[in-house]
Order: sequence, then C-alpha cells, then structure tokens
Amino acid sequence: MPMTHSDTPEYRFYLAGEWRTGAPYTVACPYDGAPVAVVHRATLDDLEQAIQAAVAAFRTTRSTPLHRRAAALRAIAASIETRAEELARTIALEAGKPIKQARIEVARSIVTFSTAADEATRSNDEALRLDAAPGGEGRHAIVRRFPVGPVAAITPFNFPLNLVAHKVAPAIAAGCSVVLKPASQTPVTALKLAEMIASSGWIPEALSVLPLASRDAAPLIEDERFGLLTFTGSPAVGWEMKRRAGRKRVTLELGGNAGVIIHSDADLAFAAERCVVGGFSYAGQSCISVQRIFVHAPVYDAFMNLFVPQVRALKVGHPLDETSDLSSLINPAEAERVAAWLDEARGAGAEFLTGGVVQSGVVAPTIVARAAPELRVNCQEIFAPVVTVQPYETFEAALEAVNNSDFGLQAGVFTRDVGRIFQAFDTLEVGGVIINDVPTWRLDPMPYGGVKQSGFGREGLRYAIEEMTERKLLVMRG
Ligand code: SIN
Repeated sequence: MPMTHSDTPEYRFYLAGEWRTGAPYTVACPYDGAPVAVVHRATLDDLEQAIQAAVAAFRTTRSTPLHRRAAALRAIAASIETRAEELARTIALEAGKPIKQARIEVARSIVTFSTAADEATRSNDEALRLDAAPGGEGRHAIVRRFPVGPVAAITPFNFPLNLVAHKVAPAIAAGCSVVLKPASQTPVTALKLAEMIASSGWIPEALSVLPLASRDAAPLIEDERFGLLTFTGSPAVGWEMKRRAGRKRVTLELGGNAGVIIHSDADLAFAAERCVVGGFSYAGQSCISVQRIFVHAPVYDAFMNLFVPQVRALKVGHPLDETSDLSSLINPAEAERVAAWLDEARGAGAEFLTGGVVQSGVVAPTIVARAAPELRVNCQEIFAPVVTVQPYETFEAALEAVNNSDFGLQAGVFTRDVGRIFQAFDTLEVGGVIINDVPTWRLDPMPYGGVKQSGFGREGLRYAIEEMTERKLLVMRG
C-alpha cells in the first residue's frame, strides 16, 4: 500500500491482511536507473508470522463455498480492469517492459483471474460404480478434490503481474491460502495486486505478499506446513528447491531455449513476422522466447530476406515510450553474461547478421548464424534478444535438432502438412507444440509447463488447480 511522503511512492508489505513496515529498499527502472518505488522488505520473522496466518486461514479457505471464491476472483479481475493503465505503467517501469507489451500482460491477467473464477465453480466430483468389481455390490463412491494446504509461491521478474496471477488465482479457486515472495526487482505490481485482493472480499488472512531477501526465503521451500511449493524461475534454482522441498508437492515452471521449425510449405511472411515477435518481445526475457530457428534449406534465403530487415527495424528505447519494441535487460549483470556468450560464439566463427553489441545494459537485437549446437547461445537459455538461425535438409533432422536440448517447454512448427504436424506432435520432447505459430504463443487457460530441465507439473488454471488439490474417496455402504 503506498505511503505518500515523497515523490517516490513507498510500499509496505502485506502480511495476512495487514500492511507492515520493514527495512526499505529502492526499486529502480532497469533502463535508466530512475527510482520507481521504495519497498519495505519483510524478514524471516515476518515470514514465520505469515506461515502461521496461512495455516490458520487455510481452515477457512478450504471450506469457503465455491461461489464465494468465484466472486472474489471476479472482483479481482474487475479491479485489474479498472486500474489497467496504472498497472501497465508499473510493470513497464519496474520490469523495463515496453508499455505496449505491459498492457498485453495486464489484459492477460484479467483472463487469468476470470478463468480461475469459472474453474472454481466447475465440479470435478466423480461418482464411481463400485459394483464393477466383485465385493463392491451395494456400495457407492464419490471422489472429490480437496485443497492440499497453504501454498508457498515464488515468482520471477519477467511477468510481475500475470505470473503472480497464475499462482494466486488457482490457489483461491482451489481453496488454498498463499504466502508469496515476488521477485526483488519487481515487487510493486504484486503489492498492488495484494491491494486489489484485499478489497475483493477474499479472506484477508489468506494472503501474504512478502518482498524477502533470497537468504530469508528458505522456509517457503523447506517448511512442512506448506502443502505445495510453486516456483517460476531458473532451472538451477528450481531443481535445487525441489530437492529441499521434503514431502510437499512442487510445481516448477523453468526455462527453455525454445526451437521453431519453418518448413518450405509454410507461410514464410507470417512465420518471419511471428519470429520477430517471439524472439524479441520484452528483449527475449520469456521462458518461451524463440531462441533457435531451424529453416528448411530451400527457403532459407527467402525467410532470411523477410526476417532480418524486420529485426533491424526494431526500436530499443525507454519502456514508457509507446514506440519502443524492447528495452534493456533486467540488470547489468545479465547483459554482461549475454556479452560473454556472444563473444564465445564470435570466437567460434559464428556470423552475426544483426546486433551482437551490448551497451549500457541493452543487448541490440541479434541474429546469429552458423553457431554450433554446443555453444551457449544455442544450448543454454539466453533470456535476451538473441536468436540463432540454421538451415536443415529434412524435417526429421529439424525435429532432432529441436530435441537436441536439455530443455523442453514449448516448440513451434510452421507447416501446412497434417502428416508433419502429427509427426512433430509425436516426436518433440516438450510440454506444448504450437503449429503455425511461435513457441512463445500462450493462452492463459492452456496447460503450461515443460519436460526435461524445463519443469515439473503444469500451470494454466484448471491444471494448476489440479496441482493444488488432491483426491479423496468417500465409500458408502447401503
Ligand atoms: C514464462 O516466461 O514462463 C511465461 C511466459 C508467458 O506467460 O507468456
């Protein structure tokens, strides 16, 4: 909740219905370092209080009628709609996301909460015929899903509203209380969302939003009072969390180096346009950003003639500039990491068709050709406006190249051939195959999650609710 004594708004943290103060720190715009807000940090002691409150509130949330859960979710969606432009500007400033893309994120979060409201009232009860097996005569059974317990949620900087929504909205629908740690770089949007949840009619004690230092977040991962840990972030951190999580359930949405195949029968102009959006929106800082483009050799030159000029025309600028297509990376350390990976590719003889320059935290939109699969620009998640392009001879070779990865979140395939579509669906080792669009395409109700290093479990409201609930059986005799 903002306090108003200076030009820079100040936000206390939200602990089970109360706005509390802690040690303040400044959240700055990644593009120009201008202060966005002063945010009060929560401590380990605050986290313990939040866990106790979440455990107590769970006794209420678990038995809250479905229509009340749905009403709160609809009220939150309505508040987001009312404050849409304010939220978009906050996302733009704290995450360095161009305002036109921040507006899309806000619109998506309305869909996320509205879909959760619909899912909240959907009955998943199953009636079983127990006379299907000898001995079951005269008995009747119901299977119903019950919430697993308080949810610990840890969210990343890249979608400060919608990836928080993807954890909080299904938790409300499922009847779970939540303790959320937003990314340190982007806590303001999550705190604004907490304001909206606080006035939605949802049980105030059932949510805490705590900007915590990473060193104080261990109980979110290890504490056995949580029924589920849901994390979106880097693979190294996520898999280590799973190792420490004990008996609780774990959902991990991790990274990727998404591949896209452009076959010779594709609409090349559309594929080129979509690869620009998929590879460079928000400076490539999405887990499903296009990273590796495989183009059928007979149309390689034609595709590149369409693609390269559009990438050259992208405008880098301030996130609030309506004409900016991308801005800086989230912090200078990330830009330095990308510079080192580009240097490695350059040293190994790769060819830079655009970009290749890193300056003041900005990575110029970059297309790299002739980069070997084992170079980091290909085999690791770059999370930057950098794509690699390579020609292929056969569709089978392209599928193999996409699968030649430790990751498997989503893949895109541009082809008009039904046989190839199902061959790709059968063969690609990913959580989702997107035909005639980029892997970056995501509709929020869809199941979303990866295989291999890319994750464990699924989000997408109905699927996240499944993760947050477990089946219980009732058998009645007579
Ligand atoms: C992510 O980076 O995992 C989220 C991508 C999206 O929701 O579009």
